[in-house]
Amino acid sequence: MTVKMRILSDLPKSTINKNIYGHFAEHLGRCIYEGIWVGEDSPIPNTDGIRNDVIAALRKLDIPVLRWPGGCFADEYHWKDGIGLPETRKRMINTHWGGVVENNHFGTHEFFRLCELLECEPYICGNVGSGTVQEMSEWVEYMTFDGESPMAGLRAENGREQPWALKYFGVGNENWGCGGNMRPEYYADLYRQYQTYARNYGDNKLYKIAGGANVDDYNWTEVLMREAGRFMDGLSLHSYTIPGSWEEKRYALGFDQGEWFETMKKSLHMDELITRHSAIMDKYDPEQRVGLIIDEWGTWFLSEPGTNPGFLYQQNTLRDGLVAGIHLNIFQNHSKRVQMANIAQMVNVLQALILTEGDKMLLTPTYHVFEMYKVHQDNELLEVAFESPVYSMGGESLPQVSVSASRDAAGKIYISLCNISHADSASLSIEMIGTSAGSVSGQILTHSDLNAHNTFEAPETVGTAPFTEAALKDGVLDCQLPPASVVVLTLE
Ligand code: AHR
Repeated sequence: MTVKMRILSDLPKSTINKNIYGHFAEHLGRCIYEGIWVGEDSPIPNTDGIRNDVIAALRKLDIPVLRWPGGCFADEYHWKDGIGLPETRKRMINTHWGGVVENNHFGTHEFFRLCELLECEPYICGNVGSGTVQEMSEWVEYMTFDGESPMAGLRAENGREQPWALKYFGVGNENWGCGGNMRPEYYADLYRQYQTYARNYGDNKLYKIAGGANVDDYNWTEVLMREAGRFMDGLSLHSYTIPGSWEEKRYALGFDQGEWFETMKKSLHMDELITRHSAIMDKYDPEQRVGLIIDEWGTWFLSEPGTNPGFLYQQNTLRDGLVAGIHLNIFQNHSKRVQMANIAQMVNVLQALILTEGDKMLLTPTYHVFEMYKVHQDNELLEVAFESPVYSMGGESLPQVSVSASRDAAGKIYISLCNISHADSASLSIEMIGTSAGSVSGQILTHSDLNAHNTFEAPETVGTAPFTEAALKDGVLDCQLPPASVVVLTLE
């Protein structure tokens, strides 16, 4: 059966904030250390201690923004431990993640250098759970004060005269859990207090992000918006895709069709979460001034056998590629309220884009989806009207096709499509309204094996290829999506 779809390119809806394509790098397992930072003396080629291969790969994604240093780590991170001569920096135990020694060699200066190399904006998360108001206030002063001040002086002593530009600043992380086990009423008050002293110095204007809800904790959003909404620019939301349950997670590899279906269903749940959290935000903020910032999302599986379970190292299959495509479509379709999203995490942790082993590096299916989708950044979101065919299993049904469309400043139209069925192809006939585009080209990510993934021995098992099953004639775009595929089309 051919499914009819209409893309109304004469009806732009909102702008897709490029920050939806944001990333997250925490002091967790081998994300920062080994994955990004190897130190200047490493035999692995690096620039100021940051590995060149990873930088080169990440630069191809046009990363807009990077969140650091956590996660749970943020609420036990004391930034002054991470400045000054590396050999004199305090060593601490990373109690959240594997109980390993953190030598603080990657700190504020190294993070800003990383952002410079990636040409992305920094997003720093401050410590509310175990840090003081003064500590947070001084960190902002250290980073952004231009002129004579105690912290600007300390920064200069450490080799950086000029302040850095810092826009995105998070006031705590998961303060309902690892960030202090607080009640929303208590955190809302702390948020108001801490953010007061996170000052705007000179021209540097902070975009302040309050720690938001866990998954479907709608009460958290309600209380935060009611009590502190007017003091924030963004409110976060964390939701991971976890087949099985939090207590009984599954492995990244070796899944069957039932687990594939469950993973797709849980990914699609993000749409409901955004809709319901947004409805609460609309009540207190009808102008939609406060952004919904989904600063942790992605798959969470059991760690790979034989690795430290506290390091959250997992493989990444075609299934993760579909999860990424579905989420990015959902974020784009909610781009009025969703102003940023940060996949967890960039390298070697959870739904990573890059995996490393010694001096080797591989790109995951998730990486390839981010590369295919980057064309949407900052475009106008277009209205798509269609009724998806259904994908059913065990009495449950899901929409088989996920879609999002946008138009760039030059008038090119991009359509991203995910066929989530493990078995059935999808035949689409898309009526293009309000465009005179005459040609179509595309890229596809798919594989006949649902468990297909890249290894250090076979790093190109899953990758992108030109998509040839699309034809545009008289304003109608016909295309045939194979099962388990992600496709991005360009019309010009
Ligand atoms: O991304 C891993 C962890 O997940 C983060 O540290 C925490 O914020 C969340 O629970």
